[in-house]
Amino acid sequence: MSSSYKKPGFDSKYFEQLLNSLPALESKTIAITGTTSGMGFIAAEACARLGAKVILLNRPSQRSDTSFAKLKMNISNAQFYKVDCDLQSFESVRTSIEEINELCPEGLNVLCNNAGIMAFRDEPTIDGYDIQMQTNHLSHFLLTKLLMPKLEVAAEKFGEARVVNHSSVARHQQKELKSEYLERRGGKLGGDGASMFFLGARWVRYSQTKLANAAFTACLHEKFQKSNPKLKAMVAHPGLAESDLQSSTVKDGGMGSFFTRYLMKLGQSEKDGSLGLLRCIADPKINSGVIVGPGLRGLKGKAKAFPLERFYDNKNTKSLLWSKSCEAISEEFNI
Ligand SMILES: NC(=O)c1ccc[n+]([C@@H]2O[C@H](COP(=O)([O-])OP(=O)(O)OC[C@H]3O[C@@H](n4cnc5c(N)ncnc54)[C@H](OP(=O)(O)O)[C@@H]3O)[C@@H](O)[C@H]2O)c1
Repeated sequence: MSSSYKKPGFDSKYFEQLLNSLPALESKTIAITGTTSGMGFIAAEACARLGAKVILLNRPSQRSDTSFAKLKMNISNAQFYKVDCDLQSFESVRTSIEEINELCPEGLNVLCNNAGIMAFRDEPTIDGYDIQMQTNHLSHFLLTKLLMPKLEVAAEKFGEARVVNHSSVARHQQKELKSEYLERRGGKLGGDGASMFFLGARWVRYSQTKLANAAFTACLHEKFQKSNPKLKAMVAHPGLAESDLQSSTVKDGGMGSFFTRYLMKLGQSEKDGSLGLLRCIADPKINSGVIVGPGLRGLKGKAKAFPLERFYDNKNTKSLLWSKSCEAISEEFNI
């Protein structure tokens, strides 16, 4: 990823310790979005080290091919499968399902909705939605809906199945989810203001997506508890982790490289940023209905579990999130 911003290059402090504490995942199948770099890559590698079959869901690109080759080289005998799935297109998500289904004859144990972009331009996807909201939430909503039958099969067979979402401390920047960000208004959602501290429009849209990730978890948790508690929903947040996320944002004009270099000194390695994600995927002590990260607003450190927060786990937000997301994908999602 070319940009004038260079990652600080943190060492990881807690990753190996956590990985060694997790149970084997042999005979489990785990699908992860966005594994070409960052925490998705780390999570995919870790799941394979624990013995899982890992389905890598990425948009077709050189980065996808290269990371696939690297994962296979890093872990011999690992079961990695690559399926094209571009989260900026509902059609691409729908098309990916047949191939994913064929890879999960025993059901899908974990769907990890990890992929994301941050503070990108005010642009519509091919479907007319904000590129950030469709990539980070709406396509994950559709993917989850379409993979529900496979999650149910695994829940029955193994006693549980998990949907893991990936949020951010940025969820706190906007305490209220607003309907317009979930509507077909891509390119007309405030323009390209890039100030992080004065909440330029790029950052408002990003924080709305990360609020949506948390609210989606709250919705799923509530519905699973009523319909089938063997299904579980949890959300991770990584604090601040050096990944390609910041480099991509710098390249798109959402952050200056000088500012980013200083900001990232407050962060941690991408391995330590993956602690919450990994605990949500594989830690038997993590239950449905929690947010897992380095404190609720922490930027680095060990990942701990906290109850979902009221500002998104409430009736109005959940109802808005669900109805607008169903409207966007033009399908009902009944659980
Ligand atoms: N790093 C942090 O400090 C931080 C903080 C809070 C939250 N997060 C969250 O962590 C998650 C992972 O990000 P990261 O930090 O690991 O960043 P990253 O290294 O940039 O990884 C993001 C992944 O998302 C994928 N992606 C982007 N657009 C996609 C699309 N249209 N279809 C499919 N995949 C797509 C990227 O693939 P391509 O190669 O195709 O672009 C990449 O694999 C994101 O949800 C992010 O919001 C990160």
